[in-house]
Amino acid sequence: MFELTDKVALITGSSRGIGRAIAETMARQGAKVVVSSRKQEACDAVVAEIQAAGGEAIAVPCNIGRKEDLETLVAATRRAYGKIDVLVCNAATNPVFGPMHEVSDEAYDKIMTTNVKSAFWLCNMVAPQMAERSGGSIIVISSIASMYGNRKLGLYGISKAAEQQFVRNLAVEWGGHNIRANAIAPGLVRTDFARALWEDPKRLAIMEAITPLKRIGEPVEIAALATFLASDSASFITGQTIVADGGRTIGDPS
Ligand SMILES: NC(=O)c1ccc[n+]([C@@H]2O[C@H](COP(=O)([O-])OP(=O)(O)OC[C@H]3O[C@@H](n4cnc5c(N)ncnc54)[C@H](OP(=O)(O)O)[C@@H]3O)[C@@H](O)[C@H]2O)c1
Repeated sequence: MFELTDKVALITGSSRGIGRAIAETMARQGAKVVVSSRKQEACDAVVAEIQAAGGEAIAVPCNIGRKEDLETLVAATRRAYGKIDVLVCNAATNPVFGPMHEVSDEAYDKIMTTNVKSAFWLCNMVAPQMAERSGGSIIVISSIASMYGNRKLGLYGISKAAEQQFVRNLAVEWGGHNIRANAIAPGLVRTDFARALWEDPKRLAIMEAITPLKRIGEPVEIAALATFLASDSASFITGQTIVADGGRTIGDPS
C-alpha cells in the first residue's frame, strides 16, 4: 500500500512546510524525489536529510513564476532520473490580505501566475511525457479557502478554486493515457505560510474551537494524503478535490 518504489516524484516548494513533508514521506515510500524551491541551500538541506535517512533525492532550484525556470526543472529531473511519474504542484503565494477592491494589478498577476499559471505551464510540460509512458499522477495543493467567501483572502481563494477546476480538466484530457490528476484542499496547517493564523494564541483558540477535531493540521497529515494519491493505491481516483481540514468545512461554527 502507498508504495512508490522506482517512481520519480517532483515536488515544487519542497524546502519547507507541506512540500517538504511530501518530499520526505514520498522518499520514505521509495520514490526518487526532486526537491525544489527558490533557494538552493534550503533544498540541499532537505536532500541531505532524505539521503541520511537512506532515501534518494536531488535539489533543483526553481522559481515557479518563471517559465524558463520550470523548463530547467523538468530538464534537470529528466537528466537525473529519466522520467517523472508524480508531479506535485505545491508552491504558492499570497502577498495580500484584505478586500479584493484593494488588490493591485501587480498583486493580482503575482497570485494568479504563481498559483495557477505556473501549474498550467508545468503540467503542460510534464503530462505529455507521462502519456508517452502511459501513466502518471498529478497532485495540486489547493486550499479550503476556495470553498467559502473570505474578506481577507478573496483572491487567494479564487486562485485555489481555479486549481480545482484545473485538475478536473487535466483528468478529462489525460485520463485516456492513465494520468490521474487530483487536488488536496488543506485546512489550517502549521507552516510558515499560515503562521499569522496560528501563532497568536487567541486566533489559534478560535480556529481550534470551530474545527471538529479541535486542532489545526500538521504538514505530515497532508503529505500522507498526497502519497496515497501518488501511489497505485489511488488508481481509480481522478479529477477530485480531497479536503483534509479536521472537519472545519463541515462543522457547525456556533
Ligand atoms: N499552511 C496552510 O495552512 C495551508 C492551508 C491550505 C493550503 N495551503 C497550501 O499549501 C501549499 C504549501 O504551503 P505551505 O503552508 O507549506 O507553505 P510554506 O511553509 O511557506 O512553504 C512554501 C514552499 O514553497 C516555496 N516557494 C514559495 N514561493 C515559491 C516560488 N515562487 N517558486 C518556488 N518555490 C516557492 C518555499 O521556498 P522558498 O521561499 O525558498 O522559495 C517553500 O519551500 C500552498 O499551495 C498553500 O496554498 C497551505
